[in-house]
Formats: sequence, structure tokens, C-alpha cells
Amino acid sequence: MKTFYIKTFGCQMNKHDSERLTGLLLAKGFQASSSPEDAEILIFNTCSVRRSAEKKFLGVLTYWQKEKAKEDVLIGVGGCTAQKEREKLIKKLPGVDFIFGPNDLDKVPQLIDACLRGNKPQISANVENRPDFSSLPLHREEKFRAWVSISTGCDNFCAYCIVPFVRGREKSRPLEEILSEAQNLVEDGVVEITLLGQNVNSYGKDLYGQPRFGKLLQAVEKIPGLKRLRFTTSHPRDFSFDLVYIVKNSSVICPHFHLPLQAGSNKVLELMNRQYKQEDYLRLANKIREEIPEAAITTDIIVGFPGEREEDFKETLKVVEEVQFDQAFTFLYSPREGTKAAEMEDFVPLKEKKEWFLELTSLTKRVALKRNELLVGKTLTVLIDGKSKKGQISGRTTTNKVVNLIDNSFLEECLGKIFNVQITSAFPFHLKGKIILD
Ligand code: 5AD
Ligand code: SF4
Repeated sequence: MKTFYIKTFGCQMNKHDSERLTGLLLAKGFQASSSPEDAEILIFNTCSVRRSAEKKFLGVLTYWQKEKAKEDVLIGVGGCTAQKEREKLIKKLPGVDFIFGPNDLDKVPQLIDACLRGNKPQISANVENRPDFSSLPLHREEKFRAWVSISTGCDNFCAYCIVPFVRGREKSRPLEEILSEAQNLVEDGVVEITLLGQNVNSYGKDLYGQPRFGKLLQAVEKIPGLKRLRFTTSHPRDFSFDLVYIVKNSSVICPHFHLPLQAGSNKVLELMNRQYKQEDYLRLANKIREEIPEAAITTDIIVGFPGEREEDFKETLKVVEEVQFDQAFTFLYSPREGTKAAEMEDFVPLKEKKEWFLELTSLTKRVALKRNELLVGKTLTVLIDGKSKKGQISGRTTTNKVVNLIDNSFLEECLGKIFNVQITSAFPFHLKGKIILD
């Protein structure tokens, strides 16, 4: 049987899709290759959220196409760029043999079979009418941690965002099905589950009885043996105060809130179609800080949205100062064809946007360091999950902060286990600490 290798770009949703695709191909008798060099089928699971993600994929693909000239390797492109471009991608990249969208994972074995029989290229990219993938086999890289998808697609249509166009409308999975998948995972030794959706807070709107996200969280947290429960991504508009109390009163749900701000100015928020105002965001963030002082609030921010002026950008800086984000993922606005924002008039030159971007990242870094410094001397629980780039044992706090351990002696025994760790020093993007054995 043929060997395959999947290279994944983009968000957790995409990584999770790759786990499903790996599981499916293994079940069909294909063999996973540990490196792209040895694979007979190369699959790229792509991201199209920003131009930079597409460029990265194109760079890697071009390299592999040269390799392909030497050997008979099948090349498949899946995920969000595949869905966005479909036939156009084949025209642009003639060496690609098959294309599949994020809602067509189940078709991949058939596409490969057809290609192997010489019928090339093959395309399967349906944005709607997606089948239920929960019955597909799943291959997880990690034994102790897992993602569980609670909904797919998105109905928000933020003006900058390509996601609703490539992943389709929002569709929630039935609560019982999510619960049973989570139960099976915990029985299998998983201690940390992350519930995944483009907008977890609107979970259940399309289901009979309209189960709310809070109800789902409270059902999953009760699974005996589950130590940590996370969720992402939240939309500030749909994030109710009840949820803050649910997290506060739980010993399993992690006190980490990823709340994409996107912009601070009300004018830009409106242009973006975010449907909340700066005041609403601040009210929510202040509520979290008040009720759960140890919680982390992280965010996504876009700089240079069309129509954003200097005074609007200053509002973003103001919100960052006020909320004191534990971490902020900052992006330069990237026009995506087909979205509303791509048609909007843009006045500010790129050079100026880049200056704003640098100003913002230097502020978010300073603020993150300040937040992390508050933890020095404290003892936190850390789930050990691997090694840092420098080879130190590393893990995450309940607030999702990376902690590198000073003592490096016993990785094998501690992988997937939770330890008390005393924090000894702080940096903008991580902490250092030592295990406290009692
Ligand atoms: N340009 C820049 N950043 C974007 N994001 C989404 N679309 C764009 C775009 N067109 C960012 C948002 C989102 C994160 C996943 O990516 O901040 O929350
Ligand atoms: Fe994920 Fe959006 Fe990128 Fe698709 S476009 S991989 S949904 S971030």
C-alpha cells in the first residue's frame, strides 16, 4: 500500500481535520510516512485566512514539485485555500493531482484511487451539505490531550474574513454525540480536552431544543477523570456573563478566555461587522478580571483595516492598556477576495500600517511581560506536553501559558502528567519554573 505524508497549515481546526484524514487513510490501508521524503502521496492541508499563510504553502509546494519531477509522487491540496481556489488552483499549479475542501475529507481515499488509476486531476470541494465526520476514524498524535469539534462553519461574516466562504454555514454537532466522544477520549487516557468551533458561544442555535454552550461545558466537565477542559474560539458578542460564572465555579474548565478584539475603535468594529462596541468588550473583560482574577485573557487584533485612521488605531492601544492582555496575536490586515472588506476603500499607506503594527506589538509584548511577572513566586499546575526549542521540558498552565522547566531530568515519566510548578522567572511569551514534589 502507498505511503502518505500530510503537511498542515493554519488553525487548530485544520490540525484536527488532518487527524481525521490521517485516521481515515490509515483505516483504508495507506501507511503514514514520518517524513515527506519517503512519502508516495503528499497532502497539503492549507489555510487561506491571510495572504501570508497562502504564500507559505506555495513556497513549500514549489519545493516539493521540484522533488516530484524526480519521482512519481501524487500531490494533493486540501483545506481552505483548496476550497477557495478549486479549479483555479489546478490551472495555477499544474503538478497538483487532487484537490479537496475542508468538507470533503471523506472523499480523499476515492480521489487518490482515481488518480492512481490515471484519472488526474481530481477535485471535490463542496462548501455546503457537508457530511458528518464524527464517524470517521481519528488518529491522534498525543495520548493525553485531544480536540473535540463542537461545530463547523461560521455565520458571522466579519467583513475581513474568508472562513464563512470556505467552511460554509455554522452547523452544531448534537450534544450527546460530543459528550460520547469526550467520554471515550477520557476512557482512553485523555486528561485535557479542547472544544473547537469558529464561534463556540453560538453553539446549539441550529439544534432541536437549542442547547446552550454553557450546558455543553457543564455536561463535559462532569466526565470522571477529565482534568482540564478548554474551548476556542469565543465571539465577544455572544459571550454571556453566565459563562464567566460557569468557569469561575468549575475546577475543570480552564480560566483562559480567548476573546478576539480585532479593533478598539467603534467605527472600525462597525465596518468589520463585529456587532459589539468597545464598551461591551471592556465590560466583559472587566467582569472576567473581577470574578476570576487569575484568569488569562488573550486576543486577536487586526491592524490597518480599510478605513482605520490614526485616531482609530489609538483606540486599539487604549483597549490593550486597559484590558492588559496576557497574550495578543496581532495581524496586518490582508485583503481576501470575495469578502466585503476587499471592496472597501483603503486610505492609509502600507508603510504607516507597518509602523502601527510595530507600535502595537511592542505594547502587547510589554503588557504580556507585566502580566507574567505577577506570577513569579506562585505555584501553578502545569500539564507537561513536550520540550521547548532549547530542549527544556515544557508544559502549560491552566491559563495556557507555556512554562519551561529548569530541571530537565525526567521527561518520559512526566509527559501528559500534571505537576505543581513554582514560577521562577517571567518572559513575554513564556515562564520558567521548577517542579515542586510533595
Ligand atoms: N487579515 C488579517 N487578519 C485576519 N484574520 C482573519 N482574517 C484576516 C484578514 N483578512 C485574523 C483575525 C482572526 C484570526 C484567526 O486571524 O484576527 O481572529
Ligand atoms: Fe483555519 Fe480559517 Fe485558516 Fe481555514 S482559513 S485553516 S478555518 S484559520
